[in-house]
Amino acid sequence: MDKIQIIGGNPLEGSIKISGSKNASLPILASTLLTDKSIELLNIPNLSDIDSMINLLKSLDARIELKGDNLKINCQKPRNNFASYELVRKMRASFLVLGPLLARYGTAEVSLPGGCAIGARPINIHLNGLEKLGAAFKIENGYVKGTVNGYLKGSEIKLAISSVGATENILMAATLAEGKTIIKNAAKEPEIIDLCNFLNKMGANISGAGEDVIEIIGTSKLSGCSYSIMPDRIEAGTYALSVLGCSGKVKLMSLNKLLINHLKDIFLNIESFKFNIVDESTIIVESNTLHPKGLNIKTEPFPGFPTDLQAQLTAALTKANGVSFIEETIFENRFMHISELHRMGAKILIEGSKVKIDGQKKIFGAEVMATDLRASSSLIIAGLMAEGKTTINRVYHLDRGYENIEKKLSGCKVNIKRIKN
Ligand code: UD1
Repeated sequence: MDKIQIIGGNPLEGSIKISGSKNASLPILASTLLTDKSIELLNIPNLSDIDSMINLLKSLDARIELKGDNLKINCQKPRNNFASYELVRKMRASFLVLGPLLARYGTAEVSLPGGCAIGARPINIHLNGLEKLGAAFKIENGYVKGTVNGYLKGSEIKLAISSVGATENILMAATLAEGKTIIKNAAKEPEIIDLCNFLNKMGANISGAGEDVIEIIGTSKLSGCSYSIMPDRIEAGTYALSVLGCSGKVKLMSLNKLLINHLKDIFLNIESFKFNIVDESTIIVESNTLHPKGLNIKTEPFPGFPTDLQAQLTAALTKANGVSFIEETIFENRFMHISELHRMGAKILIEGSKVKIDGQKKIFGAEVMATDLRASSSLIIAGLMAEGKTTINRVYHLDRGYENIEKKLSGCKVNIKRIKN
């Protein structure tokens, strides 16, 4: 297995091009199952999670051609509407094929995604919503077996939690349902807006994306189209937090207006950050201190501070001036990175759903292990901030969600390299 080696202690100086969004690409790829027409997707990031979704779609007989960041896909009727444990267990977002398969073919058998390193992640809200559209489910031998009597029928659905994945599964299915569907307490994340923009380009009729209530008027067929995936806000946030931890000045390119405003908002309380908006797709993030002021922040659904940046923020505050508190409100056990940060001299206490970070003058390089995707990038930030050498093992977690992270960072004058095994 590859490792990442970092010699820490340098500020970041340079430019980084932000890749296409992983969390927008995955549902958009799943939704290509809704049509038999050809689709072209631009700005697809080169990530192992994308490979996992491609392999799943291929197992459903999709024809796929991938050249660089351009993907062409055509989904004819598969021999079996079956998503195996082997393919689904690699990535929870694989469960997003359930809604499209049920909507187009009326049957689907998809493996339960199971738990993961950041805690139990149930699928009850996905299933309750699809049931409201007329699907019936049995859970047998670790598989969700869904059937529809005739066609799905539009309905009013109030989500118990504004789950991103459930909103996506339900709205994809509703595009081919008979009549109108209203999703209340829908997730408002920008990736939902991107999915809806894509589906509307395919001929769907969706309004309210990005708001509490999404309305979908079903149609009998969707057509092909060409669509460019939005930039990855979590990747951009990770590089901004690297600047917070290490100081320096980095230009982040290929963003969009919505994401630039979002980044400005979530980092508003960080005094040492200077944000300079260059144009509609570019910002410069700058920090002049190795010891930013301690913070008190909690993770929240969009537009709040994203849970997917919690681990990276924790790492960036390990050398803060004073004490910081971060509360995790989305997932129950997203603190796997803390014990690894302890190995580097960080002083962090877990108190229920909160962490208390006692800022240190220095942290030190160590051999550490990545446990999940965002925990891995927090260890990269800590390695860049630490005195001496850090070796990060199990970097396959990192490759799930960051395209060329070591190349992008080493282009910013810091000492980081991949050791191939
Ligand atoms: C998506 C993102 C993930 C991000 C998360 C929260 C993708 C591919 N992944 O994950 O990176 O961290 O949103 O922003 O886009 N829940 C239930 N029942 C359900 C579904 C969810 O109880 O049926 C709970 C979860 O356990 C969690 C909360 O709802 O506590 C939010 O999860 P959800 O928004 O569904 O996250 P994902 O869509 O899995």
